[in-house]
Amino acid sequence: MLHTLFRRKPLDQILAQADPETTGLKRNLSAWSITLLGVGAIIGAGIFGTIGTATAGDTARPGAGPSLMLSFVITAVVCGFTALCYAEFASVVPVSGSAYTYSYATLGELLAWILGWNLVIEYAIGNIAVAISWSSYFQALLANPSIGVALPDWLATTYRNADDNLIASAPKLLGWPIIFNAPAVGVVALITGVLVVGIRESARFNAVMVLVKILVLVFFIGAALWAVSPTTMVENWTPFQPNGWGGTLAAAAVVFFSYIGFDAVSTVAEETRRPARDLPLGIIGSLVICTIFYVLIAAVFTGIVPFGELLRWTDQERGEPLTKALAQVFPNLPWVNLVMATGAVISTTAVLLVFQLGQPRIFMAMARDGLLPKFLARVHPTFGTPHVTTILTGLFVAFFAAFASLDEVVDLTNIGTLFAFTLVCLGIVILRHTDPERPRAFKVPFGPYVLPLMGAVSCVFLAYYLPPASWWRFVGWLALGLAIYFGYGYSHSVLGRSLGRSPRTSWTARLVSIGFLAQALGLYTVPHDLGLAELIALIGDPALERAQTALVGATAILGGSALAIVGLVVEAQRRVAP
Ligand code: ALA
Repeated sequence: MLHTLFRRKPLDQILAQADPETTGLKRNLSAWSITLLGVGAIIGAGIFGTIGTATAGDTARPGAGPSLMLSFVITAVVCGFTALCYAEFASVVPVSGSAYTYSYATLGELLAWILGWNLVIEYAIGNIAVAISWSSYFQALLANPSIGVALPDWLATTYRNADDNLIASAPKLLGWPIIFNAPAVGVVALITGVLVVGIRESARFNAVMVLVKILVLVFFIGAALWAVSPTTMVENWTPFQPNGWGGTLAAAAVVFFSYIGFDAVSTVAEETRRPARDLPLGIIGSLVICTIFYVLIAAVFTGIVPFGELLRWTDQERGEPLTKALAQVFPNLPWVNLVMATGAVISTTAVLLVFQLGQPRIFMAMARDGLLPKFLARVHPTFGTPHVTTILTGLFVAFFAAFASLDEVVDLTNIGTLFAFTLVCLGIVILRHTDPERPRAFKVPFGPYVLPLMGAVSCVFLAYYLPPASWWRFVGWLALGLAIYFGYGYSHSVLGRSLGRSPRTSWTARLVSIGFLAQALGLYTVPHDLGLAELIALIGDPALERAQTALVGATAILGGSALAIVGLVVEAQRRVAP
């Protein structure tokens, strides 16, 4: 029975399901609006919020210094390989669901589920990071002397970042301190409302925001060049790699966040007028535009702030690097900061919009396939939007944005997205073999191997430079996804049922599901700042602090794995129903 886990969904069936007559979605978008959606998704919290840490480094990684511009180029190349693969896929399978749908056609159901589950990391968890970053800039904007409003700390901080003083002084509910990021929750609620009403309005809204964000980035570059001479900038670029290649590559893995989004546009394939032509143009066009801006910003940023000085910035200052950099060169002009903070707020709003647009459409595609409950695939009769999944995504993002910490969420988003990109690149190689004759409006150049395989390898390479905590959380997320798949999707899958899988969840599938759940709990229990070898050493020395937690976590991981293996072995013996 288990071999059906790798059964692929026929492409013709996928294309037929996307017929607008059946889905109810409207085809409104052109190549230009897709490029704008792409830029809207790409430029955001990454460039405005992560380059301070990427340049200076933190306790978990070394900084790139002026070689940040090189980091951006490296990451652009990695994303470029993947963008070409996305473009080819989008031209062959122009339907909603993005990489999830592509992989169902090429890698089979189980990997498609895993990929779809990872896209939740990219879109929904990524958006938690963007909402937290949005909130920081929004507060910076309010705090500008020309406005002068400060929110109380308990409404402006995420619980994960709250210190003891705040916990003691915050208002209490049944003895619990109330500390949450109110602006982050508010903006997610607003965006969700806009998206329920309809995509045409959303695309226009996005176009205006993209224009403003480009003007603000040009403003930063222009203002910096005005204030600091090119000779001084060149001096500040030395030493170029203060922490060697380790720093440059660690930064490349962080700033990967600022590129995420070029792929998000493929989720609106079913709402695109001429998907086979417009999607590749939109995806690659938006990536190229953003790369040019990023390298220029990195060059100017490291040119106006000497590396030694950057190291003295506080964590909070590193979280808003562009405003801080300009404040340094224009100390007496607060309006300059007002412009930058406004730009950051608008830019991150555009990102929130596109990600909140993408996630529900992926859920919808998964629900249509029976891997998630069917009610998630409903489309609103008047607005023509997937309103159920849009609202659920909004609730999920708002809830975690209220409490989570930015850095942790960025790292998790990066690792999950890199994994999804790896599978997309491999999918191209496979599809060229399994379906070579299918018309492709766009083909990855130089044949089916060179660029897609370079894409897959380079994504894994970047992920290697992310801290251990993100790896633990990522593997835990995968285990949780497998628990849900074996507990629900395996028996409800439309494809699986057509292959003779029982529509009832068997006890063996339940066993596998419980096993993966225990594994996930274990993975979230073990200390996340340690690598695997350090964890084993910790367990081996019970005298050490945290050894007990590590032992409990490791037991759950091993016990869960044993259950899952037993369940899988028994399930594998089952015969397909006649
Ligand atoms: N690329 C998006 C951003 O930087 C996720 O906000």
